[in-house]
Amino acid sequence: MSLKKNILALRQKKAIIEKGGGDKAIEKQVAMGKMTARDRILALLDVDSFHEYDLFVEHEERNFGMESKELAGDGVITGTGSICGAPICIYAQDFTVMGGSLGLKHARKITKIMDHALRMKVPCIGINDSGGARIQEGIGALAGYGEIFYRNTMASGVIPQISVILGPCAGGAVYSPALTDFVFVVENISKMFITGPNVIETVLGEKISQEDLGGARVHAEITGNAHFFALSEMECFEQIKELISLIPHSNLQKAVRIEPKKPKSKKNIENIIPADPKQPYDVRDIIHALTDDSKFLEVHELWAANIVIGFGRLNGETIGFVANQPMYLAGVLDCDASDKAARFIRYCDAFNIPIVTLEDMPGYLPGVDQEHAGVIRHGAKMLYAYSEATVPKITVILRKAYGGGYIAMNSRHLGADFMLAWPGAEIAVMGPEGAANIIFRKEIMEAEDEDVMRQQKVKEYIEKFANPFVAASKGYIDAVIEPSETRELLLHALEVSKNKDDYRPAKKHGIPPF
Ligand code: HXC
Repeated sequence: MSLKKNILALRQKKAIIEKGGGDKAIEKQVAMGKMTARDRILALLDVDSFHEYDLFVEHEERNFGMESKELAGDGVITGTGSICGAPICIYAQDFTVMGGSLGLKHARKITKIMDHALRMKVPCIGINDSGGARIQEGIGALAGYGEIFYRNTMASGVIPQISVILGPCAGGAVYSPALTDFVFVVENISKMFITGPNVIETVLGEKISQEDLGGARVHAEITGNAHFFALSEMECFEQIKELISLIPHSNLQKAVRIEPKKPKSKKNIENIIPADPKQPYDVRDIIHALTDDSKFLEVHELWAANIVIGFGRLNGETIGFVANQPMYLAGVLDCDASDKAARFIRYCDAFNIPIVTLEDMPGYLPGVDQEHAGVIRHGAKMLYAYSEATVPKITVILRKAYGGGYIAMNSRHLGADFMLAWPGAEIAVMGPEGAANIIFRKEIMEAEDEDVMRQQKVKEYIEKFANPFVAASKGYIDAVIEPSETRELLLHALEVSKNKDDYRPAKKHGIPPF
């Protein structure tokens, strides 16, 4: 055959495989409001940047009628490309080909692109739309998932790993995402469960819809398995682009610096915190008043809202923000808030992102529910994560800093590089009412008017301890500052910390309270 004919034959062969599961299956996919795997890649990546690998890979399974089944690309598309100019590796499972189920060859395509991403030190993005291990392949499929999980773990903390859930995902198709750094979900499209509803019905006799079992909102609001929630696939892709623009592309790099812009928030930072210390406010208003261009990409926005985490820029550099949210449960620390913050702190530390902590919380949430849910273990994760982190760590105490929460929120004692406090900061073992009731119990009980005496003792306690000056007099706070000075001091602290080089004892690895 002439080269021309060969080229034509190649094009025809490619066109057939690029059709995935065929017209009918694609129609079904589109009718469910879903894009095809190929369209997803093209929509997410820079125009004309995608280069496919392994289009012609075929499965070798011979059981359960598989010998006669042709599966386009074995149900997964893999390759390289770029997002906003940054090189990335990507795979997208094709639900039109046997429900995107994962056989050994499908898995090997994924592990090949993961290996490539790790060698090239570029982010790896997985678009998951799969019923999990291909049942017909048995051990081959399980082996494939095992090899993916192993690579997810090896790549953890070296390159960013991003998972996008765009269909009903079961078994390994959710365990691999769980090992990655960021999970994106889309309303009505994403479903995540270890075991699908049909298997649950067979085994347990219980009927439940995919949505109720593990829809996008379930994972964005209740379980915390999803970090980003979008209303459409296109909105989800915009979120991924924003994230990629903010994070370093490996642990050997810093995030790309951009031209700094002043905050554009119209809110005066001095007026955000209400005069009454019991009144809530939205800590994101303070973050917006501090960050370049007042931009902030919030992570886990819908889960454990009592703590806010996310990325913003200061002087053009990416910073990780961890902030108590007084608007929700008074910003108290609990099991979920601790898990949420601890993992984010470890992410920032692994990828050279300085951490700014904004503190205003009454302590850890007391009660049987929290104790039985393991608040001791979960809360300890924050202590561990902050203590372990060697990136620049700066804390600003905005208002309340009580008890264990004061220590946990990146105190000097856990290695904060700079401790700043606003003049209204209250730093003590517990809130004035609780403290007065305990230490002045006798005086209160013996008083003619218990309420008057209680109020008097509360006032005494507030005057003595509920201010930043006791901590400042001991050097635990470096400076008591005016709110309007905060951004400039943060910029200065970050500049001074540029060459920070912290010492940690040599060890294979620590044993955090997972
Ligand atoms: C082979 C599969 C499959 C699988 C789906 N299909 N999952 N084929 N192996 N795991 C096929 C279906 O047979 C069907 O083929 C097509 O994909 C579309 O599936 P439907 O069931 O029609 O779609 P839907 O109703 O949307 O339901 C999707 C689903 C459901 C929720 C994913 O298919 C399901 O529950 N599948 C099984 C999930 C599961 O338990 N997987 C194993 C996980 S164990 P046709 O030809 O009819 O179009 C695992 C081990 C890893 O992954 C290790 C974990 C630690």
